[in-house]
Amino acid sequence: MRDTIRFVRNGKIEEIQNVDPTHTLLNYLRYDLGDTGSKEGCAEGDCGACTIMLGELVEGEMIYSAVNACIQFLPMIDGKEVVTVENISKSPADPHPVQTAMASANATQCGFCTPGFVMSLVAEWHGENRADKAGINDVLAGNLCRCTGYGTIIDAAQDAANDKAPDLINAREENTKSLLAKLATDEMLSLHFGARRYYAPTTESELEALLAEYPNATLLAGATDVGLWVTKQHRELEVVIYLGRIESLQEIGSSDDSITIGAGVTYSDAHYFLEEFDSDLGELIRRIASTQIRNSGTIGGNIANGSPIGDMPPALIALGATLVLGSSDGERALPLEAFFIEYGKQDRKPGEYVKRIIIPTKVTGQEFRTYKISKRFDQDISAVCAAFNVIIDDGEVVNARICFGGMAGTPLRASAAEDCLRGQPWTAEIVQDAMGEMLNDYTPMSDMRASEDYRMQVAQNLLMKFFVETTAPDAPTRIVGEGGIAHA
Ligand SMILES: Cc1cc2nc3c(=O)[nH]c(=O)nc-3n(C[C@H](O)[C@H](O)[C@H](O)COP(=O)(O)OP(=O)(O)OC[C@H]3O[C@@H](n4cnc5c(N)ncnc54)[C@H](O)[C@@H]3O)c2cc1C
Ligand code: FES
Ligand code: FES
Repeated sequence: MRDTIRFVRNGKIEEIQNVDPTHTLLNYLRYDLGDTGSKEGCAEGDCGACTIMLGELVEGEMIYSAVNACIQFLPMIDGKEVVTVENISKSPADPHPVQTAMASANATQCGFCTPGFVMSLVAEWHGENRADKAGINDVLAGNLCRCTGYGTIIDAAQDAANDKAPDLINAREENTKSLLAKLATDEMLSLHFGARRYYAPTTESELEALLAEYPNATLLAGATDVGLWVTKQHRELEVVIYLGRIESLQEIGSSDDSITIGAGVTYSDAHYFLEEFDSDLGELIRRIASTQIRNSGTIGGNIANGSPIGDMPPALIALGATLVLGSSDGERALPLEAFFIEYGKQDRKPGEYVKRIIIPTKVTGQEFRTYKISKRFDQDISAVCAAFNVIIDDGEVVNARICFGGMAGTPLRASAAEDCLRGQPWTAEIVQDAMGEMLNDYTPMSDMRASEDYRMQVAQNLLMKFFVETTAPDAPTRIVGEGGIAHA
């Protein structure tokens, strides 16, 4: 077992010992190293002022992704390259192509937001390098400026995308790769800091042994929820087990009858795969949070946190997904909907972890749609999230699965509405009846996101929208906005 965090920065291996494992990466950079280029705006993953880039060696290639340093715990960078705004150019006289483009387009704004914008764009420059407006809007959705504007930044992003001369990161890439290869290890990271423990197992059997010893440990995946427990709620986490180094939890695959997603698969990694399976599912993932959060947050974390407004559970429940839990006693499978017992209570026993989710493949006559309703289009939590899945044969509803988030204390199926539809013709009249039945399914609450009445009305109307989309595909049910983005 190792007690040293090792990572690569600026072409060198760095080592850290004796550190609080819930110390954030941002605080380490700013307060321990004095590298204050990355800023703290919100400390909750919302504003992007702290955006940095993580590099990983995957099958011999460097993969870079933007993340929010404010909610990453320091040991999570173990085995990776950390690139901050301080190390993307050799000197102020020789800036990175993204910085040159920002300056030329008059896109530099205040010192608070600009480093984060630059780092999001540098990560994109090293990744997909999209030059289209819709793509750039996606890249920047997690970078907030409340005062100036995005027009010139988008111009700069387009200019930079067309200026792909090698940068400093490319120049040190071979060295970075060899350093990361040296850091690659199956040895578990085990940190002790006072009473606090942090473990990063590399196999599920190591994880199960740890959970047998610490059944109530905090499991840590992308930290997009857990990070906030520390930065916002100031919670003291005694034993933390990090799942991000267990490769088997990050597998995603398909067979003739199902697709399987490991609990540790991030939204970004799941996106293209699930988009192929269903374009609405792809669009739902694109609407979750921001690029930075999607690069860290996992599908398993979105289920395990038990939130009534998590975006994945309604779609997965409507699709009839199965959840597989693991522990030292073996595996246990249950319908995903059965996992959510009541608000704040899930069917996960001490010592268990979420292993994978299995989605049955589609059958003939199946129609599926999912819609997210939120106050802001980007980077916002749902007021209501709907998912509809019906199988229609010869104009008749053979089966219906409808699930909503935001309508109850858990993601919940609309059983009365489903019963009303099953065995009936797929007509506007029957759909109207089912909309009425939804009053028996839900008693939504009013909160800052939406009132009870709004939630009920929008939920009912979404069922009608689904009906229209399945029966009159050319009806203008989705507004296509600037950049070609369809608004649900
Ligand atoms: C700015 C911001 C925007 C967000 N926007 C959205 C949004 O639009 N839609 C949405 O649904 N959510 C959103 N979230 C919430 C969050 O990103 C998701 O819930 C995410 O999927 C959590 O995954 P994670 O890997 O980061 O989990 P973590 O934070 O690491 O863990 C979350 C919870 O799950 C547990 N856990 C994690 N993995 C496992 C496992 N394999 N087995 C058992 N328990 C496990 C943890 O112990 C913890 O209780 C947002 C969060 C932030 C900070
Ligand atoms: S400080 Fe706002 S996202 Fe990190
Ligand atoms: S937050 Fe920097 S200019 Fe608006």
